[in-house]
Amino acid sequence: MNEKIEQLKARFNEQLAAAEDSGAVEKLRVAFLGKKGEITDLLKGLKDVSGPEKKEMGQEINRLKSYADEALTQKAAEIKEKELAARVEAAESYDITLPSAVEEGSYHPITLVQREVEQIFASMGFTIEDYSEIVDDYHCFEALNIPKHHPARDMQDTYYLDNGQLLKTHTSAAQNAIMRKYGAPLRAIFPGRCFRNESTDACHENTFFQMEGIMIDKNISISNLIYFMKTMLSEVFKQDVKVRLRPGFFPFVEPGFELDISCLICGGEGCPTCKNSGWLELCPCGMIHPNVLRDGGIDSNEYTGFAFGLGLTRLAMMKYGIKDIRDLNSGSLKTLAQFKY
Ligand code: DAH
Repeated sequence: MNEKIEQLKARFNEQLAAAEDSGAVEKLRVAFLGKKGEITDLLKGLKDVSGPEKKEMGQEINRLKSYADEALTQKAAEIKEKELAARVEAAESYDITLPSAVEEGSYHPITLVQREVEQIFASMGFTIEDYSEIVDDYHCFEALNIPKHHPARDMQDTYYLDNGQLLKTHTSAAQNAIMRKYGAPLRAIFPGRCFRNESTDACHENTFFQMEGIMIDKNISISNLIYFMKTMLSEVFKQDVKVRLRPGFFPFVEPGFELDISCLICGGEGCPTCKNSGWLELCPCGMIHPNVLRDGGIDSNEYTGFAFGLGLTRLAMMKYGIKDIRDLNSGSLKTLAQFKY
């Protein structure tokens, strides 16, 4: 074998044996096989050799090249295995009985309010239901007496999926399925996350929570609605809350109302949260439209019912004095960690 090649091989072997980690092996690969590596240089030098010697040398250098390549790959694999074994061993030395440095978490204010309202309604005989966040046009609009092209849809622009389904704009989207599931008589509440394509400010978010409620039975009237809402709000705020009813239009109730509560942040004097009106729109509600009962499989000659769509996010803001709705979705521990319950 050509002496130069032999020396190079010996030097390569020596250096490979001394390499102790993946970084060192990689450096060797560059030093010998890289663009400007020693073996590469030898191959390049062949152009100055001539005659039968050239072919022989070429074969020898190529053999050395394959040899070095294989040896480097093998060494890299060995080292990787050793490094992994070392990591596993180090992991085994963790003491899982040591106290954690992570501080205790807390419930989100909306979860807290949701649970509280659920408990109050459960104590009044309401079933608590869950429903999907992805719904179809029929459940979100058509079954609620909002046909295609109805102007009421303008208020509820949302996010559409490629398959035509959408993120629900209100918990009312579950009304039809729940009527069909239980039939009448029926008392149910169904909290849920809702979505709208909105510009955000202190009181608007594209993602928020509502809690819908329906009660259907013989002879249900507006008085029943007012009684349940007042009882629930007074329990939540632990005081007699001032409420007012204004007429409101929603295609799925007739008559429909807006139930407002006096702003608990400013005491009714006016602040950014209540848009300086002193009142917060908290709970639209009304008597369920006969078309909606019919689509839900309920005989509207025999049964009547009320429905309400409580703004759970707004309720949490009122209860805890949170001034900016965006804090609730921010994930900011500065705000959220204050709720240790
Ligand atoms: N789903 C309506 C909305 O988000 C709110 C609503 C109004 C719910 C009247 C109701 C109701 O149950 O009776 O805009």
